[in-house]
Formats: sequence, C-alpha cells, structure tokens
Amino acid sequence: MLEVEGLRAGYGKMVVLHGIDLGVGGKEIVAVIGPNGAGKTTLLNAVFGLATLHSGTIRYKGRVLNGLKPHEVVRLGIGYAPQLDNVFPNLTVEENLLVGAYTRGKDPEVHADIEDVLELFPEIKRRRGQKARFLSGGERQMLAVARALMSKPSLLLLDEPTAGLSPKAGAALIRKVKEIQETRGVSVLLVEQNVERALEAADRVAVLVSGRIVKQATPSELKGVPLEKVFFGG
Ligand SMILES: Nc1ncnc2c1ncn2[C@@H]1O[C@H](COP(=O)(O)OP(=O)(O)OP(=O)(O)O)[C@@H](O)[C@H]1O
Ligand SMILES: [Mg+2]
Repeated sequence: MLEVEGLRAGYGKMVVLHGIDLGVGGKEIVAVIGPNGAGKTTLLNAVFGLATLHSGTIRYKGRVLNGLKPHEVVRLGIGYAPQLDNVFPNLTVEENLLVGAYTRGKDPEVHADIEDVLELFPEIKRRRGQKARFLSGGERQMLAVARALMSKPSLLLLDEPTAGLSPKAGAALIRKVKEIQETRGVSVLLVEQNVERALEAADRVAVLVSGRIVKQATPSELKGVPLEKVFFGG
C-alpha cells in the first residue's frame, strides 16, 4: 500500500529524516513511536506533500507521491488527521465533515457518508450543529479522524490522535481506529506517544529516533523491551 524508501526529508534546507525505509501493507496498522522532535510528524507530512523531499521515494499503490500537493494525495486515497490545528474551530461539526469531502466534488453520497461517520462517533453526532471550538479535546480528535475519513481513504495518517486525552478516552479512540481498520479495510500509519497503546493497536511498530528508524518489530516481539532505553540510545 505505502512504501517509503531511503527518504531524506525536512523543511527547506533542514533535513529531519535521514533515510527512512518503511512500508504499510493493506489493512495494516503501523505505529511510529519515538521521542519528541524525532521526526514523526515530519514523516506524515512528507507522505502528505507538506515537507521538502531531498531524496528517496514515497510510493502509494505503486504510484510515486514525490512532488504531489496535499489535495492530489487526498484524491489518491490518503486521509490525514494532523497533530495540531486539526479541526476548523469556527465551522460546525457537520461543516468540518463536508470540508473533509471537498475533493469528492458533488458526489451525491457525501451526505450519506456524513451520517455514516457520525454513526461511528456518536459522541460528536449529538454536537453536529455546534461549532467545533465548543468541543472537548477528545471530541475534536474524534472529529479530526472522522473528517479524514470523509475523503474515503484507503490509508489514514493519524498523528497522535490520543494526545491530551484521558486514559479512558484514549483507549476508546484507539478501539475506534481498530474498528475502522477491521470494518472498512483501511490501513493506518499511526503516530502514538503512548508506547503501551501503540503496542496494543498496531500490527507493526517502528521506533523513530533522531530521524532514523532504529527498530521495527511486531508488538509481541517488543513486549518487555524497555523502549524508553531504545528511544535514548540503549
Ligand atoms: N514546519 C517546520 N519548519 C521547520 N522545522 C520544523 C517544522 N516542523 C518541525 N520542525 C522541526 O523538525 C524536527 C522534527 O519535528 P517533528 O514535528 O517531526 O517531530 P515529532 O517526532 O513529531 O515530535 P513530537 O513528538 O513533539 O510531535 C524538529 O527539530 C522540529 O523543530
Ligand atoms: Mg509530532
């Protein structure tokens, strides 16, 4: 589905990622974990056409994404729920979802799909007519994921969707992500700060430190490995 090969990328002349090789298969959840500033967001930005690519290739369903603009990446089937500024605060919940479907033009099924994603997140269904700025942090994260689904992606890029949530709300959101994977067959590249939660959700985990992947394994292989040590060079 997604193949990243030898990726060096950053912002302008600055290089943040120093040769990343990573793949995400069909209906697979791959979690990226690592310390602050490691380049996790930059990796998602690079896939989505929001970073400067210095070398390497990003392929999606065999097609090279290098040089594409975000709206072109969305059209190919990739949805992004970013870490920050992930909802439009002055638009209602429903308007946010409509914006998520903008690349679909006048597709008559958009309205049915809004009902469909609201079914998935009943917590925000009740708030559909309210401006997003009145939502709680957790509700905003749900809206960001729901909005990313509105382009009907086969690959979702999720950047710390559980950041700032209570353990209970975070666990619930991760269960939703699993449900999206299982019932819709969507693949997910998930950035998650909480190591335990990443191990629970993912089929595979990549540890990113200082712009390099220092470890890739299945969650069961990583059980009991002190990842904090791996993060800091242990
Ligand atoms: N838009 C930008 N322009 C220039 N430099 C940036 C930009 N965004 C991030 N950086 C720099 O790139 C490096 C990697 O940042 P990135 O946001 O990818 O880290 P991260 O792993 O997502 O961290 P966190 O866990 O804190 O979200 C940092 O040194 C950061 O200062
Ligand atoms: Mg980040």
